[in-house]
Amino acid sequence: MTVQVQIQHDNFELPKVDNPIYKVHIKSYGCQMNVYDAVRMQELLAPFGYEHTDEYTEADLIVLNTCHIREKADEKVFSDLGRMFKSNRKVRKKDPLIAVGGCVGQAQGKRIMQRAPQVKIVFGPQTYHRLPEYIAKVQRKQKRVVNIDLPKLEKFDALPAQKPQGGTAFLTIQEGCDKFCAFCVVPYTRGAEISRPAKDVLKEAQDLVAQGVKEVTLLGQNVNAYHGVDANNVELDFAELIRRLAQVEGLERIRFTTSHPNNTTAELIDLFRTEPKLMPYFHLPVQSGSNRILQAMNRNHTIEEYMDIVRKLKEIRPDIAMSSDFIVGFPGETEEDFEDTLAVVAEVGYHSAYSFAYSPRPGTPAAALTNQVDEVVKKERLAMLQALITAKQEEYNSQFMGQTLPVLVETETKEEGQLRGRSPHNVPVNFSGNKRLIGEVVNVKIIEVRPNSLVGEIELVD
Ligand code: SAH
Ligand code: SF4
Ligand code: F3S
Repeated sequence: MTVQVQIQHDNFELPKVDNPIYKVHIKSYGCQMNVYDAVRMQELLAPFGYEHTDEYTEADLIVLNTCHIREKADEKVFSDLGRMFKSNRKVRKKDPLIAVGGCVGQAQGKRIMQRAPQVKIVFGPQTYHRLPEYIAKVQRKQKRVVNIDLPKLEKFDALPAQKPQGGTAFLTIQEGCDKFCAFCVVPYTRGAEISRPAKDVLKEAQDLVAQGVKEVTLLGQNVNAYHGVDANNVELDFAELIRRLAQVEGLERIRFTTSHPNNTTAELIDLFRTEPKLMPYFHLPVQSGSNRILQAMNRNHTIEEYMDIVRKLKEIRPDIAMSSDFIVGFPGETEEDFEDTLAVVAEVGYHSAYSFAYSPRPGTPAAALTNQVDEVVKKERLAMLQALITAKQEEYNSQFMGQTLPVLVETETKEEGQLRGRSPHNVPVNFSGNKRLIGEVVNVKIIEVRPNSLVGEIELVD
């Protein structure tokens, strides 16, 4: 079997066309950055005649944009691709071109090629910008292509400009991670931490605003580890980058995700006081409430240090929407450790939190530990934690009852005449209105509180 491990920059270019001639189905499995990558792939393929379809059975090209973070993600990929290939072939009477990208592609690229002959292209999160080149190579040379290099910044320079839909957009400012938490594959799949130069970030923000964007969410595995250079080659930290972005005229709202407690500086905390464009929402994962477990996880901070950050943020903005990720059942986690986690949730009162049962990942230090927690215990703890998170979330949301909130309208819902947007605290708000309001900020009076959202009525101004 021929497996091209290294692809050269060469003449394998796809011809550009004016109208769509092919259909592509891209399936994402992972985090916000994974979803964002899929949008960028679609934008990248469009000039070559590839139009998106939700039906994988009618696609000429199927891209599995995979995630490696939990469970047997690679097994899921293998079952999906077998099933998709078969049903697609049945409908179209010919083979679809199948490409596997994303973090499983990165981690298991060569294995995928060996196990799945249907797959013709494998690439990772840092090499998807060359997808048109890979397609051309497969079509012209009948060769399979694997590119799982981890080049720095090349992707950002090569991708076409974003085409935002509506008033809100993601903006990647950094990628990758150097933290090596004992449970996590991201440093291996996304590569070392890199920050985009500030001038590129500012330029992209200006371009987005020129296309009607009012809100950007700065995206990265650890956004607050940002350390890009400005036009004079002087390094900026994350707080300074936000200050400069806030000067972009027409940009009304700034959010960011995800952050790490250890990069949460006093300047960043203080921006929630001084910078009105910075929205009162902070996703700051803590993973566990127990110092013993935090240490075993290699998080490099204590629960007291984390709570100190939360306390300072709440002093500035008592209403700040705190959000977190939690892992239950990390190796060695006792009942007492788990109770420490519950205590943190009870005290912080999160606006939202994602929680997961620990899943051993190949190649990570925690997977080799011998004191793994029983699956049944993990499940029980997860259910308890999630029940507490939901109760606290409803309590948090209830503070907005009767208030009028400025809502950035994002989309129509499935219900006729219903719109959905987000409040400054990132809470979804549903209300009736004309779809012409999409992309606008409207005042909505809250009349009902639900566990995950608010319901309101547009406040009419005379
Ligand atoms: N960079 C972010 C998030 C990375 S992955 C951070 O540092 O917090 C998103 C979340 O997935 C993590 O916060 C963690 O809660 C969860 N996660 C990562 N690896 C996991 C594993 N092996 N098992 C269960 N959950 C995991
Ligand atoms: Fe993974 Fe830890 Fe890096 Fe987050 S900080 S991406 S959890 S290694
Ligand atoms: Fe998954 Fe990769 Fe994101 S492993 S969570 S898609 S960084």
